[in-house]
Amino acid sequence: MNHYSIAIDGPAASGKSTAAKIISKRLNFLYVDTGAMYRAVTLLMLEKGLDTKDREAAKSILDECDIKEDREGRVYLNGKDVTSRVRMPDVSSQVSYACAHKEVREKLVELQREMAKSENVIMDGRDIGTVVLQDATLKIYQIASSYARAVRRQKENVEKGISNASVEEIQKDIEKRDYIDSHRENSPLKKADDAIELDTSDLTIEEEVEAIITLFRKKVGEEVWNNMVQSL
Ligand code: DC
Repeated sequence: MNHYSIAIDGPAASGKSTAAKIISKRLNFLYVDTGAMYRAVTLLMLEKGLDTKDREAAKSILDECDIKEDREGRVYLNGKDVTSRVRMPDVSSQVSYACAHKEVREKLVELQREMAKSENVIMDGRDIGTVVLQDATLKIYQIASSYARAVRRQKENVEKGISNASVEEIQKDIEKRDYIDSHRENSPLKKADDAIELDTSDLTIEEEVEAIITLFRKKVGEEVWNNMVQSL
């Protein structure tokens, strides 16, 4: 049987994971939050008091870094649920450094491909369309202004009790991460040639979900779509 995959890439806080989670439920696809995995590696480095910019230090922990994600998108580091912990500001501000090391990326890309091997999947990150799932059925490159993204992230932080940083502080952090993520040597954030750009600055989550599902439906054609919907 054919497997279908949706790759969503884009800068920090562009709403990728919220939309991807909803789509995964509607289409019964596996959702993989790849950012959470890079965050888990970062957390382990911080817990060990290591410098996230130090490549040798990053390499040294990879063998003792067991990362798992369940179907609900919860992430486990060495058996411990760290889903909320990895969203905290200390991890957010360091993750761009830890995730830039070649060996860290190799380990996680392998894990991500393994997860996508045997079922329909929707995966979000920075290098899904360009590296992880180069043959994805649909590739979306999602953008939004840094201000719109900061406003969304601040609301989310307050709702989840993660931090009470201001919109300005968050916007600065987001712009810094965008710069590092798109200028790094290994798999920088960039639009795949065959990705469709979607600007979500003025879209609600529901509109974004609809837009992506419509693009997917067009891509696979009515026959496949109808079969898929019937089996839901
Ligand atoms: O999507 P996020 O904010 O949770 O991602 C956290 C960091 O991980 C982000 O700064 C870039 C990095 N990342 C990456 O390099 N490649 C991915 N596929 C996903 C995330």
